[in-house]
Amino acid sequence: MVESINREMEHHGAELSFKENMSYGDYLRLSDVLGAQAPLTDAHDELLFIIQHQTAELWMKLAIREMSEACNCLAQDEFAQVSKLMARVNKIFSQLNGAWDILRTMTPSDYTTFRDSLGKSSGFQSYQYRAIEFVVGNKNPALMKPHEHMPEVSKWLHQIYEAPGIYDQMVRALARAGFEISDEVLKRDVTKPYTTDASVQKAWEIIYRNPRDNWHFYDLAEKLIDFEDFFRRWRFNHLTTVERIIGSKMGTGGTSGAPYLKKMLDTVLFPELWQVRSDL
Ligand code: HEM
Repeated sequence: MVESINREMEHHGAELSFKENMSYGDYLRLSDVLGAQAPLTDAHDELLFIIQHQTAELWMKLAIREMSEACNCLAQDEFAQVSKLMARVNKIFSQLNGAWDILRTMTPSDYTTFRDSLGKSSGFQSYQYRAIEFVVGNKNPALMKPHEHMPEVSKWLHQIYEAPGIYDQMVRALARAGFEISDEVLKRDVTKPYTTDASVQKAWEIIYRNPRDNWHFYDLAEKLIDFEDFFRRWRFNHLTTVERIIGSKMGTGGTSGAPYLKKMLDTVLFPELWQVRSDL
């Protein structure tokens, strides 16, 4: 059997010596990646917990890159590119949502075997998660505080916080295309929360009533609704997983736990896009 596999590899010319060549593992820095799991206990499920978080952070890294590029392209009215980038972001979130099924196999009994070792660390301190919220436009300065001890991260997060996010770039694109958008929303402080603006809502109503005449905005709107839909499902999956694993215990990050996460479900990223559905 082994011999026949070797013959097969020789026949196909597979490279078998990597003393001189860059290998798969070299290129992917697999020693770094696979060496980056350092459980603090002997608990069987701690590795699952670490890998679940690390892989989520890797996918978030890619999502931030694609979303930031989408935001830049939106500022240049490059709608086809935005659509392509957001389609990828939405697939990433679909992947992140599917991953909860793996973590759900961990029971409360399993988790208690290592929870104490986590100290005060919590996903609440995920600076990439905050970056995703900020790139969209959902910004809360208090959430930058947990990262003050890391100057580079803090600086990076501040830059995203100060810059117009996807919501504001979307509103500006509508105005550039000739839709009547109020000065109030166009000149708003982009670090502040936003709620439904009547002029933005009117623009979406025109677009949704005539998709064929406004196809790239219609497509943009649906991509953004897809994103918020996936993001809501992510929050809901997280909450349900948390409830089944820790019930109503407080979070290691210091919040009330499930009640805090329930409150976060109320967040709305693109209010006018949801509102317009009632107007049609
Ligand atoms: C056993 C599994 C998990 C439990 C029990 C859990 C629990 C919690 C709790 C209670 C919070 C609220 C903050 C706090 O006080 O700690 C929180 C926040 C958070 N967790 Fe998890 N979590 C789990 C898995 C995950 C995973 C796999 C991720 C993926 C990265 C994640 C990402 C986050 C994020 C981003 C927040 C902040 C949410 C926000 O502020 O809106 N969590 N988690």
